[in-house]
Amino acid sequence: MSEQQKIDMQTVWQQDKDHYIHPWTDFSTFKETGSMVLADSDNVHVKDGDGREYLDGIGGLWCVNIGYAREEMAEAIADQIRQIPYYSSFGHHTTVPAAKLAAKLAELAPGNLNHVFYGCGGSVANDTAVRIIHFYFNQLGQKTKKKIISRIDGYHGSTYMAMSITGVKFDHIGFDIDEQLVHHISCPNPYRRPEGQSLEDFCDEKVQELEDKILELGADNVAAFFAEPIMGAGGVIVQPDGYHKKILAVCRKYGVLYVSDEVVTAFGRLGHMFASEDEFGIVPDIITCAKGLTSGYLPLGATILSSDIYDVISKPQADGAIFTHGYTYSGHPVSCAAGVKNIEIMERENLCGHVQEMGAYFEQQLKTLSDLQIVGDVRGRKFMMCIENVANKDTKELISPEAKVGNRIADHCQARGLIVRPLAHMNVLSPPLTLTREHVDFMVATLRESIEVTTAELKAEGYL
Ligand SMILES: Cc1ncc(COP(=O)(O)O)c(C=O)c1O
Repeated sequence: MSEQQKIDMQTVWQQDKDHYIHPWTDFSTFKETGSMVLADSDNVHVKDGDGREYLDGIGGLWCVNIGYAREEMAEAIADQIRQIPYYSSFGHHTTVPAAKLAAKLAELAPGNLNHVFYGCGGSVANDTAVRIIHFYFNQLGQKTKKKIISRIDGYHGSTYMAMSITGVKFDHIGFDIDEQLVHHISCPNPYRRPEGQSLEDFCDEKVQELEDKILELGADNVAAFFAEPIMGAGGVIVQPDGYHKKILAVCRKYGVLYVSDEVVTAFGRLGHMFASEDEFGIVPDIITCAKGLTSGYLPLGATILSSDIYDVISKPQADGAIFTHGYTYSGHPVSCAAGVKNIEIMERENLCGHVQEMGAYFEQQLKTLSDLQIVGDVRGRKFMMCIENVANKDTKELISPEAKVGNRIADHCQARGLIVRPLAHMNVLSPPLTLTREHVDFMVATLRESIEVTTAELKAEGYL
């Protein structure tokens, strides 16, 4: 990199710090440190403004599934821009990629989930699901069926409704949520279950809690249950075997719709295009997805509805009103072209098959870190993993939040050329799906060294 380019990067860093309000940011540190400028990428690596290379252990934000800087993706996007960069799909217009992608998603999604509504990302996909669910029950004349149930530590996005459905308490601090409409049940985190309780009993207790909550609110008032197949931003929580099936049975019993939030789990992260049925054996009423749908190359989200729901919402309304929901960028042709190309690449390269194999190796190798003093739990599946750090492995007592253990480990990894995501006392890993064995070995060795250095620091500072 030339001296001039370096100076430009310094300017960019300054402009960013002065003017860009970053999402999800701790301004107490941001105002001093600013942000690392990322300027280049290739496959599983990104480069900062100084040309330093990092293996991206978090795939952007659980999303760069096919890897960075794919030439044929750039071409597909450019081609679509040359043909027709935008047209509204309100009413009776459409574009080729919007139609093609909808048909492809209908083919890939389980059961009779054959109808696709597009938005710009995961939060909007979940907001859309709520609006459509309300509209659906209104159409059926069940006008009191409006409440949503979700789980503590579930993450569903950052719009007002999606954040209300989100159950990560930390995320609500200082903001408001809709507590009339949304109700939370507890988190089915097996690692934190009471000492001595079997996984089966723990699972049944959580399922019973949903049934109790529906009865408490009144089944006539409860519209839907929202859940991620594996809870992501809440700490990569894998629920006990059979949990989803049992939960779905309770939903069916009370006429409550099941929304599977596959914003992270779809498009290969767990080795399937969709995880709900292939990994967990359930066919929900609605699947929401985003992120891996375009591998993050362009913003796009989708709310995929069952034919049963579509049949109801697509009936003409009695008073002549229409389905008044949608966004300027619903079905954006360039984003949809990226989605079509993304799935084509995934299928051609059998990335799901690769994740089945390499993800199993990743899981197995990460678990070898369990021998480290502060590693309490290594959990997750395939390319969706998390390391939970604790002060005491027997009691599972946490290290003081002041120690910022997740951040320290992430910083040490970054200094060694690996980006991992800090999440309170945890570190999350969700690499591009093109990861090789050598990349896995580098990640695990770097994490081991970084956790060891962090442990030594914490001891020296009296945190351990
Ligand atoms: C499970 C889940 N749902 C929804 C969202 C929100 O998606 P977006 O940030 O694209 O709005 C996220 C984002 O991380 C997510 O992990």
